[in-house]
Amino acid sequence: MKPRIVAACRVTGAVAERARALFDPLFSDGDMNAEQAIAAVADHEAEGLLFTSSTKLTADAIGRLAPSLRIAATVSVGFDHVDVAAAQKRGLATTNTPDVLTNGTADLTMLLILAACRRAAEYLAIMRDGWRRRYAQDEMLGIEVTGKRLGIVGMGRIGRAVAQRARAFDMEIHYSNRSRLPPELEKGAIYHPTIDDMLPSVDVLTLHAPGGAANDKLINAARIARLPRGAVLVNASRGVLLDEDALIDALKSGQLAAAGLDVFRSEPDYDLRLRDLPNIFLTPHMGSATLETRNAMGNRALDNVEAVLSGRPPIDPLWR
Ligand code: 8YV
Repeated sequence: MKPRIVAACRVTGAVAERARALFDPLFSDGDMNAEQAIAAVADHEAEGLLFTSSTKLTADAIGRLAPSLRIAATVSVGFDHVDVAAAQKRGLATTNTPDVLTNGTADLTMLLILAACRRAAEYLAIMRDGWRRRYAQDEMLGIEVTGKRLGIVGMGRIGRAVAQRARAFDMEIHYSNRSRLPPELEKGAIYHPTIDDMLPSVDVLTLHAPGGAANDKLINAARIARLPRGAVLVNASRGVLLDEDALIDALKSGQLAAAGLDVFRSEPDYDLRLRDLPNIFLTPHMGSATLETRNAMGNRALDNVEAVLSGRPPIDPLWR
């Protein structure tokens, strides 16, 4: 008999096929919340669970998961929706999917940088309106990305992949991180021990730090004020990092020329005041949304489930 698993999130066709080959899976039509996942795990007597940030595994939820469950594998790199201490206490293996979404998310970050700097939202609106008047030499001008100073908050895998892409645009790379990287990873980027130190020196700021309470409103009004006037702010990591009231004020006052956001404090019911600003480019949390990356994420989660259910240690453990 194959081990039983629950997929509390939809997965790609290729991942579903592999899940069927390896396990006896119960699939879901949409993303399950924690209550639905708890019920599905119990009904299916599942040993493995695939899920995403829609399934909030709080301490309470983890306590109510059926004892059959041996591994909960989030199909994401972020795990701010998991109470890792509670999982460890219960002895529930918990894993994420690092590495495989680095390129997809870094690509999308470049899209946000380019789109925010080059007024893509406004240009798209003009074209959708039928564009019937030529713009003069001095109208509708954007900000040139080439040669600008890019500040990266959080120089982990995704931050470094953004730096690599930005170098092709001749950007000068600055970063702030808990610790300085070794030269082979730093690749000439300028290290700032604190975010506050870095902010006055950058034209474009991009956030690549984890979510969670410790980083709540990491970028607030005071920090936005430290950026040069007319800077651009981009976020493809977690919405919680940014004070959206401060962002809106800065986009209205001109302290920020433009912003690009893939993530929001509240998702999917994001603050619609953001939609009404002309100088913002918005995407609906799509950093990892390519077929290649979603296949790789699903497969990485299945690799973790397979390892644990075969008695091996998890590949990407969230606790040891
Ligand atoms: C996912 C993400 O889209 O990996 C993450 O942390 O935020 C994204 O890749 C998200 O987990 C929902 O599937």
